Amino acid sequence: MKIKNKNKTVWSKRFKSQTSKSFQRIGASINTDKRLYKQDIFASKIHTQMLIKQKIISAKDGKKIISGLEKILKKIEKGNFSFKEKYEDIHLNIEKKLFEIIGPAAGHMHTARSRNDQVVTDFKLWIKDSTKEIIHQINELMKSILKKSEKYTDATMPGLTHLKNAQPISFAHYLLAYFEMLKRDKKRFKNNLILLDESPLGSAALSGTSYKIDRNFTSKKLGFKKPTDNSIDSVSDRDFAIDFLYASAVCAMHLSRLAEDFIIMNSDAYQLISFSDRMLTGSSIMPQKKNPDPAELIRGRTGINYGKLNSLLTIMKGLPISYFKDLQDDKSLVFDGYDTLKDTLIMANELIKSITPNRNRMLKMANEGYTTATDLSDYLVREKKLSFREAYNISSKVVNYAEKKSKKLDQLSLNELKKFFKEIDSKVQKILNVKNSMNSKISHGGTAEQNIKKMLKKYKKELK
Ligand code: ARG
Repeated sequence: MKIKNKNKTVWSKRFKSQTSKSFQRIGASINTDKRLYKQDIFASKIHTQMLIKQKIISAKDGKKIISGLEKILKKIEKGNFSFKEKYEDIHLNIEKKLFEIIGPAAGHMHTARSRNDQVVTDFKLWIKDSTKEIIHQINELMKSILKKSEKYTDATMPGLTHLKNAQPISFAHYLLAYFEMLKRDKKRFKNNLILLDESPLGSAALSGTSYKIDRNFTSKKLGFKKPTDNSIDSVSDRDFAIDFLYASAVCAMHLSRLAEDFIIMNSDAYQLISFSDRMLTGSSIMPQKKNPDPAELIRGRTGINYGKLNSLLTIMKGLPISYFKDLQDDKSLVFDGYDTLKDTLIMANELIKSITPNRNRMLKMANEGYTTATDLSDYLVREKKLSFREAYNISSKVVNYAEKKSKKLDQLSLNELKKFFKEIDSKVQKILNVKNSMNSKISHGGTAEQNIKKMLKKYKKELK
């Protein structure tokens, strides 16, 4: 069957039959990579400007191309562009449309480039923009964490290790632990921006080009720091996509831990925090239920972010160098990873805003489980000059005794305490109080309220 000219793809000249219908559907990436339209048109315009400047194409043709590209951009933004599977991907859909609009002059646009450097240029530009959006969302979340923390520097809760009551901490200090994680996430994403800051455009298929192109010009105009230095690496490299997915996976992991903490703290067994009804759902059968679905989605979707990273690493692992079609699927992975993480960040932000800690319950729980036993040891070391191990042994005995008597440590009388170490004095009772314990942790990074207040000031400045 003869292929009708109208339906022909740009590379169809050597082909005797049309592409299999099923492969056309499965192999086309247009439904995914149409998200690159802005970057593709932008990069094509810059490329064309360079071709004119270098006198590789005529200014007349070049201007036609640029104005055609601008028309296409408008069409797409107005929703008047029909993307076609038969033209495979965003690059060929746009080129085909350019022919329709400006005629044969469109044929000059693809001089001195290939889809291989084109796609990686578009993709880098997209990841750059999207990384900035993720950083913005992380910032918003960090602001909410600061705001919530400011209100609860004095709220004492049990810090847990192994999910067992360990030592008293401030709820604000707990929240700010996540602030630190997000700070690292932000840095990770920012580092990625530095790493990807090289323009691949002009690497062409894989070996570079014999035209006198100006890669410094295109690199600068596209907003990159410099052109890449090896044409083969340029079209093969997907490190920047992996870096994006890795940073996303780590960020999602942090938010998953936060979500898990909140789910536990909100459980009927703990009752340390409650969510506003905006962030809860009901049960279709049990009328009493209010379930923390958003937190569960944050936790669950981390699996999606991990999956995307794993998939791309696996696609890359056995790939001979330069371009192969395997690489086409990199985009859906990154787009999905981005969409998932962005939603997760938005949900986490709403979640933080919606929580109310139950101060009384927190304090009550901080008082359970002998959480100031370490403070007793420290007191014996500091005030009575025992070695830590000696003090630890005495403390253990005191805890055993308190357990037997069903008393809290600060409910033991001085006489009872003296049975374990004669020289214990009345100072010790203050030491065993959970709030005092919390506020005694004045070492750098410790949970004392005075520390937290200082940190809050510093964090606020950093966020501005
Ligand atoms: N749609 C392709 C992709 O996303 C563009 C590059 C095509 N290059 C090629 N040599 N077939 O990877």
